[in-house]
Amino acid sequence: MDQDALKKQAAEAALQYVDGGVIGVGTGSTVNHFIDLLAGIKGRIEGAVSSSEASSERLRQHGIPVLDLNAVGDLALYVDGADESNKDLALVKGGGGALTREKIVAAASERFVCIADASKLVDVLGAFPLPVEVIPMARSLVARQIVKLGGTPAWREGYVTDNGNVILDVQGLQILEPKALEQQLNNLPGVVTCGIFALRGADVLILGAEGGPTMLK
Ligand code: 5RP
Repeated sequence: MDQDALKKQAAEAALQYVDGGVIGVGTGSTVNHFIDLLAGIKGRIEGAVSSSEASSERLRQHGIPVLDLNAVGDLALYVDGADESNKDLALVKGGGGALTREKIVAAASERFVCIADASKLVDVLGAFPLPVEVIPMARSLVARQIVKLGGTPAWREGYVTDNGNVILDVQGLQILEPKALEQQLNNLPGVVTCGIFALRGADVLILGAEGGPTMLK
């Protein structure tokens, strides 16, 4: 099976967690499979709160109502992908640039089901460049602070987030204490949020694999 088939397998397995109501929906190629599959059972849900304009567009194309988080309150379920996960279900996210809205929807959800192919499971987070969303005027200031923390930031040039901000992709961080680093980065003036999801990690990780999906809780 290729990587995309493994992503689809994980997305299929996540359907078992859909139990009506409003679903939180993340962003990325794995979630795109989930959205396409959700369309098949859309009569069972009220709608979705989306973490990006791209996912909103795909949901609408399937006739799934996209709802405002402010109008619906807390969600029972959030389904999203990841760029990396460790065994504690702390994640690195934001490869697709949607990390801030993803973190908001994750925080509003009772259960976060993360879907990925098995290659995303790592011993130590940080091999994937860590995305950090930054207010544009603070780009260089934040980059200098990140260098002091041992990272090598690169501006994702030409990319603007759905919130009108920029992304720094940070290489060279061995994230041994994800919660501490998440707090430290989020506290830098100018940072909107970083792509470490450890303070609110996933509750369930479904990994697409050759022998069938595996689940970590
Ligand atoms: C987007 C994300 C995605 O969940 C992450 O990049 C994984 O993407 P994919 O499912 O395409 O591998 O955090 O901001």
